[in-house]
Amino acid sequence: MLTGKTAIVTGGARGIGAGIARVLASQGAQVAVLDLDGAEAEKTAAALAVPGLAVACDVAIEAETAKAVRSVVERFGGLDILVNNAGVGRGASDPNVPRAARGSLGSGAMSGAQWDEYLSQNLRTTFVTTAAGLAALKARGGGAIVNIASIAGLVASPRLPAYAAAKAGVISLTKSLALEYAPHDIRVNAICPGFLWTRAWEGLAEAIKLDTPDFAALDARGVFLEVVKRGVPLGREQTPDDIGQLTAFLASDAARNITGQWIAVDGGITLRQA
Ligand SMILES: NC(=O)c1ccc[n+]([C@@H]2O[C@H](COP(=O)([O-])OP(=O)(O)OC[C@H]3O[C@@H](n4cnc5c(N)ncnc54)[C@H](O)[C@@H]3O)[C@@H](O)[C@H]2O)c1
Repeated sequence: MLTGKTAIVTGGARGIGAGIARVLASQGAQVAVLDLDGAEAEKTAAALAVPGLAVACDVAIEAETAKAVRSVVERFGGLDILVNNAGVGRGASDPNVPRAARGSLGSGAMSGAQWDEYLSQNLRTTFVTTAAGLAALKARGGGAIVNIASIAGLVASPRLPAYAAAKAGVISLTKSLALEYAPHDIRVNAICPGFLWTRAWEGLAEAIKLDTPDFAALDARGVFLEVVKRGVPLGREQTPDDIGQLTAFLASDAARNITGQWIAVDGGITLRQA
């Protein structure tokens, strides 16, 4: 249980982050949802088992993030758990970006600006939020950081090379931070999710469909389910609740001697690709 603990979940308005926020709150934690989408963050925070807090914030931007973290610490009286979940291509999450353009963000024909954007969204965000939260975690005499990486950071990912490089960077950063902050009893671990049906996957499904003739007749969800059928040894998609359950364990005292690790929650996908 996480009763009495306080947590920040970045990108917690929807998808995996919302699942993590729900599980942490169901175990008694007070959760602050930091997200670009303030309106959706409000809805998610209001629906949590323990009333949560929503803060509209771009966690790639230092000043905004530091201010958001300060407001959470003032409101909750401290910080015990930081979940760095915000990520993926901004275009993939943005309903204002046309579907075709969302798909092209994942192609090999990527500009330097798009490369920078992926690195910013998926690696800089983890660095910026961790830097903003460390003082509060230290002030509590310890805490837990859980970074949401990806199986793309473990295996070759030709459709998403910048994303994969960023997620491999998250795993590397996890290990470095774990060693650096062990003397403060701050544990840092990473989770590598497999295939989860979220808005991020809608854009990716469009890109996969464009270069997979077999999938021509399928809609985005159909493409996703076919990818799951062909690629997941356990034969089922992973869910935000799966990721939330592992996050809650890694954040709890039951994991007090686990730090600097990454764990794939992927139904065995990477067993074939390793
Ligand atoms: N969906 C999958 O299959 C999958 C697999 C592996 C890893 N992941 C990772 O899980 C995490 C969540 O992905 P998801 O699938 O739930 O995506 P999603 O697009 O459904 O949700 C992402 C959320 O993060 C928010 N966000 C994005 N950038 C932000 C920023 N700079 N500041 C604040 N908020 C920001 C978005 O507004 C959105 O609410 C990402 O790090 C992603 O890379 C997802």
